Amino acid sequence: MSPLIKDASVQSVAQAANLADIVSQYTTLRKRGNTYLGLCPFHQEKTPSFSVSVDKGLYYCFGCGEGGDVFQFLRKMENLSFTEAVESLAQRYGVGLEYEEGSGPDEMRRNRDQRLFALLEKAAGFYHRYLWQSSEGDRAREYLQKRGLERSVCDQYQVGLAPSGWRGLMGRARIQGFSERELEAAGLIIVRDGRAYDRFRSRLMFPLVDHRGRVVGFGGRSLGDEMPKYVNSPEGPVYQKSRLLYGLHQARKAIAVADEILVVEGYTDVLSSTQSGVGNVVASMGTALTEQQLVLMTRFTSNITFMFDADRAGAEAAMRSGGLARRQGLRPMVVMLPAGSDPADVVVEGPPGALRGLVDAKISLLKYEVTRVLDRPDISTAEGRIAAFETVRRILRASVSPKEREEEIRAIADRLQLTPENVGLLLREGRGGAAGAWSRGKTKTAGSVAGSASSGYVSRVTAPVHAVERRFLVALTKFSDAAGDLLPGLTDEHFTDPIHREVFQSLHASQQRGESVAEAVARLATGGGETGRMSAGLLIEGENEVYTRALLQHDYLRLQEQHVDRVVTELRARLEEEDVDEETERKLYRLELLQHEVRQMLADVEEG
Ligand code: CTP
Ligand code: MN
Repeated sequence: MSPLIKDASVQSVAQAANLADIVSQYTTLRKRGNTYLGLCPFHQEKTPSFSVSVDKGLYYCFGCGEGGDVFQFLRKMENLSFTEAVESLAQRYGVGLEYEEGSGPDEMRRNRDQRLFALLEKAAGFYHRYLWQSSEGDRAREYLQKRGLERSVCDQYQVGLAPSGWRGLMGRARIQGFSERELEAAGLIIVRDGRAYDRFRSRLMFPLVDHRGRVVGFGGRSLGDEMPKYVNSPEGPVYQKSRLLYGLHQARKAIAVADEILVVEGYTDVLSSTQSGVGNVVASMGTALTEQQLVLMTRFTSNITFMFDADRAGAEAAMRSGGLARRQGLRPMVVMLPAGSDPADVVVEGPPGALRGLVDAKISLLKYEVTRVLDRPDISTAEGRIAAFETVRRILRASVSPKEREEEIRAIADRLQLTPENVGLLLREGRGGAAGAWSRGKTKTAGSVAGSASSGYVSRVTAPVHAVERRFLVALTKFSDAAGDLLPGLTDEHFTDPIHREVFQSLHASQQRGESVAEAVARLATGGGETGRMSAGLLIEGENEVYTRALLQHDYLRLQEQHVDRVVTELRARLEEEDVDEETERKLYRLELLQHEVRQMLADVEEG
């Protein structure tokens, strides 16, 4: 069960948090009047359309329609749940949280985990400083240089060095008040026969950071050929290997921009790739990708691309992980590297931009599988082709996209010199339900695809009828004292956009409760969802001085006009089809008078 934070605590966090500060971690903001303006961190743009109102504690992007309060921002940006967002802000601003009784993780466990996270964080800092400041660090720094890893990328991933002594880390942590039990629970020391010593000694340290940015463990690589090559943190209360993707936290922005995750095998692959400008990369930490890792990825994007080592193990991993991805309804892609190399090799040995080029030339998993079969040397013999034909049939049967399958069949027919009957056989391969599974998966993950919801939104607001509705709502939130005069003259039918209508209904209801329109919209804006985004936008746009009382009056009349026009058009159409009904005819007459009147008023307003 997810913990429930008390409302009062959420309010304290909201008050302590500074939205402009938080947003500034993701984009550069410039102050303009009461608001800040910057490039939107949620979509790619060249001119700034992202605004932040510090007074209101709200943000809104005029380009993509994202909007909300500080919690919504973090949720969206870091893919956090509401609780996670509140907790992470509470930690940042030093606000203590109270949980509803019986709902939270129990107090003792939470405190223990907090201590372990603090210890691991300090350990990462210690190793990192040790690498750059100690004389023992010379050898490790040389090693990094030899592997072409620069200081900046090592800092970004907080690479460190564990001292060669037996108690370098332990001694320091004990002085800072951490107990032997805590050090053991964090996986930092080994206790054997009553004697305790550091687990990591003389190793290059890669902190394992979870998607919330917390250090949960370490991977320690030997600096030469000593075995074992890697010593890793054992699993424990805060580290579960199967749930962690190395580098996810650091890559999240690049992932959002690319709308894609590249999965590599190792720590060094992540670092090299990032250094060469391909930053949307995470490591499975070994070859086998777990189901949980895959599910975690789909919170960020549904475009998964494997970039494993170009060896047998890497190929098998791509196919096994690819199968898992297909079962999640995804359509994975594969990057083909030069035989025998991994991404880090390509960066170090290839010309600049080599990795980017290979990534751009990625192919579908299906094509990858088929190509592997067709590239077998024995394809030149008749027996080889027969065996290949059977393998290819099996591969096609597992594929999920009919379109992709048909594309591959042409290549297969060509290379295997197939008869038309055999081509027909291949065309009938593929699971009956497969296409369904694919589209199901797609709808399930569609919500996580950045921008997919907002593009529809943009086209809606640019339609003129909706533009007037929106403008009216913006002006009304700005001059909310006018609501008492204007709202009673409007009905649901005056708003054609469903979200505008929803906002109107809320305002109408709150006005009847005696609440101010500005308050009501502010509440909507923190509620998330499309209505929340829209409401944040209304409030922020209201800061623009083109919104005047005169414009509010004008748009009120325009709303009336639009509404009357719609009703009149509808009635006329009905009169043409049905027999003349006197009642309806009178109604139409009255409406046409009203229409005339409204137009007259509008003309007056526009002139004056
Ligand atoms: N790994 C591990 N334990 C091992 C070997 C590998 O945890 N004994 C994981 C590590 O996450 C490692 C990844 O598998 O990064 C890939 O392994 P490998 O290709 O052997 O290591 P690289 O990190 O690529 O190291 P290098 O490039 O320095 O050889
Ligand atoms: Mn490797």
